[in-house]
Amino acid sequence: MNAVLNAPAFDADVPAPEFKPGPSGTHITIRGLTKYFAGWPLYENFDLDIPKHKIVSVFGPNGCGKSTLINMIAGLVPIDSGEILFDGKSLKDTKIGYVFQNYREAMFPWMRTIDNIAYPLKLEGKSKAEVDRRMAELVASFDVKFDLNRYPYELSGGQQQTASIMRALAPNPEVLFLDEPFSALDFEMTLFIREKLQEVFMQTGTTMMLVSHDLEEAVYLADQVLLLTKRPTKVAEILPYNDPRPRTTATLSEPSFIDAKKLSLEIFQREVRR
Ligand SMILES: Nc1ncnc2c1ncn2[C@@H]1O[C@H](COP(=O)(O)OP(=O)(O)OP(=O)(O)O)[C@@H](O)[C@H]1O
Ligand SMILES: [Mg+2]
Repeated sequence: MNAVLNAPAFDADVPAPEFKPGPSGTHITIRGLTKYFAGWPLYENFDLDIPKHKIVSVFGPNGCGKSTLINMIAGLVPIDSGEILFDGKSLKDTKIGYVFQNYREAMFPWMRTIDNIAYPLKLEGKSKAEVDRRMAELVASFDVKFDLNRYPYELSGGQQQTASIMRALAPNPEVLFLDEPFSALDFEMTLFIREKLQEVFMQTGTTMMLVSHDLEEAVYLADQVLLLTKRPTKVAEILPYNDPRPRTTATLSEPSFIDAKKLSLEIFQREVRR
């Protein structure tokens, strides 16, 4: 028999790279992630561990791939190769939520706000009683003061983004992804939603990945600031930031906050100049 004809298509002598899970407390394990756009590498053999029950803020130069990173983890953008596991499970066995930057395009305009928020629960086949119970919980935890029976376009930007976050959280996701959720909001609404997010995080401990282009906001909400390099993108540093929650305006003048922000800025500038 001709051995060559029976040879497998891959080289059996080269072992597949060993999958090394992250340390205990890791929620999302990313190994060997590779993504090219138009023949150019964005991520090459990229490894990262995202901790459970923490908020990780993603910060880095323009176009370094912050959105693509969370979109690949959330399954919105396909990866070329690599492995992404959630507590050892694949994405299809994991419940996630996603908050888009552009809340105006995130809601179904033909549905009342309340039906937009309940939509993922209905998709899951929840009964009316279960949907009603979860909606009441969400309204209480977000302390909603506006009328959810209105259509999204009848609400302010901040109210619409609040509703988007409620919708993303409705099915109790294991991970919540947020891509610049404040960038289309005015300052007052940014402060309001930032506080809401922190409150929800303190109530639920939902693992969150937050892309932000505002360093103060990135640090303020974070347990870890993930600083990325220019493309091909690597981890520049992972900075822990441990001030107690709830963080308040007083936090902004704490030396620990100022130090974390300064260090993040230095790393960011080093990477932009490189
Ligand atoms: N579908 C695509 N086709 C080709 N190139 C893409 C595509 N999506 C993203 N890119 C490129 O990949 C890189 C990373 O894009 P991405 O939007 O993830 O960056 P970002 O860090 O979120 O940027 P920003 O700070 O502007 O939000 C950019 O250079 C972008 O042009
Ligand atoms: Mg982006």
